[in-house]
Order: sequence, then C-alpha cells, then structure tokens
Amino acid sequence: MKNTIEEIKKLIEVIVDPSSGETLKANNAIKHIGIDEETSSVIMLIEIAVNNNEFTSKLNRSIAKIIKLDLGYKSLSVEYEQARPKNIAKTMHILAIASGKGGVGKSTITANLALALTSMGKKVGIIDADIYGSNMPKIFDIENEELSGTEDGKIYPFNIRGIEIVSAEFMTEAGKALMWRGPMLGKILKIFVSETIWSPDLDFMLIDLPPGTGDVAMDVKSLIPDAKAILVTTPHVSASHIAIKAGFAAAELKQEVIGVIENMSFLEINDEKHYIFGKDGGKIVAEKLGIPLLTTIPIGQPASGHHSLFAPTEYIGIMYLNLARKVIKAFE
Ligand SMILES: Nc1ncnc2c1ncn2[C@@H]1O[C@H](COP(=O)(O)OP(=O)(O)OP(=O)(O)O)[C@@H](O)[C@H]1O
Ligand SMILES: [Mg+2]
Repeated sequence: MKNTIEEIKKLIEVIVDPSSGETLKANNAIKHIGIDEETSSVIMLIEIAVNNNEFTSKLNRSIAKIIKLDLGYKSLSVEYEQARPKNIAKTMHILAIASGKGGVGKSTITANLALALTSMGKKVGIIDADIYGSNMPKIFDIENEELSGTEDGKIYPFNIRGIEIVSAEFMTEAGKALMWRGPMLGKILKIFVSETIWSPDLDFMLIDLPPGTGDVAMDVKSLIPDAKAILVTTPHVSASHIAIKAGFAAAELKQEVIGVIENMSFLEINDEKHYIFGKDGGKIVAEKLGIPLLTTIPIGQPASGHHSLFAPTEYIGIMYLNLARKVIKAFE
C-alpha cells in the first residue's frame, strides 16, 4: 500500500471545501498529514473556512472515499481547524491582551505597545474588544468619530498615529453606555474581526480584551484560532490569582500565552522603590504557568503631560520598546 505524504496530499488537495467553494490547495488548507502503515491509519489536520458539522461531514466523506476506498487504509481521523477570516491576512500576528482582573492596565499597555511597534516600523491594528468598557478612543483622544462603511455592511477602521482602530465607542453616541441587546453584542467582535477592512499588510493586530477569563477570549479563539495572548497582572495577589486562572483557561483553549506583564510594580521616589501593591505577582504567574515574565512596568504618568501615552524617549516609553522587541521575537 505504502503511499508518501506528498502522494496523499496530491490526491486530497483537489477536494473542494464546501464552506468556501475553493479547493483545499487554493486555501492552503492541508496543515498536517500523518501515515502509520503498521496500523493502516491516516490522520489529518485540515483548515476549513466555516467549521461546522454540515461542512466537516461532507469533507469527511470526500476524504474517506480517497483514503479508505481508493487507497485501502483501515482508519482515518481528520481534525478540523477554523481558518482565519479572509480579511485577516495570514501574515498578520494576532495578540490578545488579557488579564482576569479588571483595571490592571490592559488598555494602557495595548495602546503603548501599539505605539512602540509602530515606532519600530511595524504596521499595527487594534481591536477594542471591551464592548461595554471601551476606552481605546479616549486613550488616543479620538472624540465623536463614527466609523465609515461600505454599502455591503463592511466597516473601515479609524486611523490614528498610523494605527488602525475599531471600537464599539465609534458605533454609539459618544459617551453613552452601550445598550445593545445580547445578540448584537455577540456579533460585534465578529464584525471587528471579519467585517472590517483591515490593511492586508498589517504586521500586528492587538486585541484589547475586557477583564475576565471567559466568553470574549473564547470568541477570539473561535474566530482566530492561532491568536496568541499576553497576560497582565499587578504585583498584588488578588490580580495574580485571577491571572493564573486566565492562563489555565487559555491553556484549555489551546491558546499560546507568550508571557506575563507585571504592571504598577512599584513607585519610585528619589531612587527608592516603594512596593505599594506588594511584590512578585508577575513572577508567581510566570512560574505557575511556565511562561516568561516579559517586563515589570512601574507606576508612572507620561512626562509629556499626555494622560496615557508614553514617548519612546522617556523611561517607561523605553520599557515599551523593549517589550515590543520581545513581542516581535515571540512571533518569529
Ligand atoms: N503603570 C501605571 N502607572 C499608573 N497608572 C496606570 C498604570 N497602568 C495603568 N494605569 C492607569 O490605571 C487605570 C486602569 O488602566 P487600564 O484602563 O489600562 O486598565 P484595564 O486593565 O484596561 O482596565 P479594564 O479592565 O477596565 O479594561 C487607568 O486610569 C490607567 O491610566
Ligand atoms: Mg481596558
């Protein structure tokens, strides 16, 4: 019987993914093929445009016809993975900023990391996925703006400082809390991911998550399975405790967490560090989850007088540049 992986790939790749109408070859959808001649079994990992039962069972039948009927293997196991939406280029690095506990600095870090990456020549987009508590527009001083769209319902991101941004704030009357009904709320992240006209040459997409270990992280995972994550904590046990939970939740979703950031680590006065929120929260999270502690950011305000954004020349701004370097490395 002996077939090589290449031979099997050639036979399989002409099959059409019923959810996209394109061949597996055109979609570059065959991610892995494994053959065990001894047990006469074949395993596969296939990327599918829409991962639901209707489409996967159709594809299963087409693949089984070749592997079992034509080639005579006894067993076949195919695992399916949701492909990225078409408007999210395959070259784009996707990073979700998560925390567990609220108010630890996710949004501030997302914005400053985006700035640092931009200053290093990277093209960056931000999805403000904190639908109820969106404050990315505030951080970038974008006021009273509405996103423009196309006739077929796609939206253009807002562009500020060379960074593309979408936020629920741009879709409501400024300042008013969102009062969308549940189903609409569920769709908003999907709109930001799949229905937004992102530049195809974006290097990084940062997703500012709401606090919590749950739903939105799962939605991100189902829309973009290969998105990675960063965990933010403060030194305080109340934050690190929940960050660890968020880390375990990510592990269950098979989402790679590239590292931990400890924010508000200390306050420095006259060269003396004061650990007012305690010590080592970041270190504990990193050790518990077996991931690196990427940086510890002190308590501080931008020297420029801006309320949230640090210049790349000041102390904390340089820390963000170092963080950006580590983030770039994590995706290499
Ligand atoms: N290192 C820091 N030093 C001083 N203030 C900080 C620091 N990091 C964040 N802050 C401030 O703490 C507050 C909370 O920060 P931020 O909104 O970024 O947190 P968050 O995790 O996004 O919150 P939420 O969970 O509500 O989305 C903001 O007022 C922010 O300016
Ligand atoms: Mg936030």
